[in-house]
Amino acid sequence: MNENKNGHKVLVAYDTEAGSTIEIADFIGNVLSENGDIVEIKNVSETVDLTSYDRIIIGSPIRYDKWMSNASKFVKNNQAILSKMPVAFFFTCAVLAQKNDKTARQVKGYSDKIYDIAPLVIPVSMGEIAGVLDYSKLSFGLTMILKLYLFIIRIKDRDGEIGKEGDYRDWDAIRSWVESIDFG
Ligand SMILES: Cc1cc2nc3c(=O)[nH]c(=O)nc-3n(C[C@H](O)[C@H](O)[C@H](O)COP(=O)(O)O)c2cc1C
Repeated sequence: MNENKNGHKVLVAYDTEAGSTIEIADFIGNVLSENGDIVEIKNVSETVDLTSYDRIIIGSPIRYDKWMSNASKFVKNNQAILSKMPVAFFFTCAVLAQKNDKTARQVKGYSDKIYDIAPLVIPVSMGEIAGVLDYSKLSFGLTMILKLYLFIIRIKDRDGEIGKEGDYRDWDAIRSWVESIDFG
């Protein structure tokens, strides 16, 4: 992407539960703008004319091993057009707070599920981004369910750290990923 100084129009479409992925989408947008692109950031639920963009980056948090449903719907519903455009995907998740073989396996499973959403859409890159775990941003019910869910992952993978609150976003790594995307 480093040769990309000629103002491509890029859409960064995101989904979010608690808001931290919006900040990631904004950051991605800033990196692209610094590199000369014209960027729009939109929630995947907003109606947009995708034909007005040269490139699209789509990202969502992982929710119970999958992208959030509106992100999946966005890709499925726009499969025909996205299959003809340069597209990159990313996901944010909690397990990447710890980088080891076990989380790598888990994260590979997340990627595989995202690739399966719309097989005609072949992203040029899949950004794997450690996200934020902030239980205060979630309802009591969701917090309980999520804690239980991450506890099960923790037991299954014998990883004592998974589920600990924190902001695990590594902005340098996110920048490197964005700058490494080769849209062709
Ligand atoms: C209901 C729920 C389910 C989640 N499921 C997973 C999961 O299966 N694996 C994982 O690594 N993280 C999981 N997470 C963590 C989120 O992916 C992570 O906190 C993300 O950074 C949240 O982004 P947001 O602030 O934009 O919503 C889950 C979070 C919630 C709220």
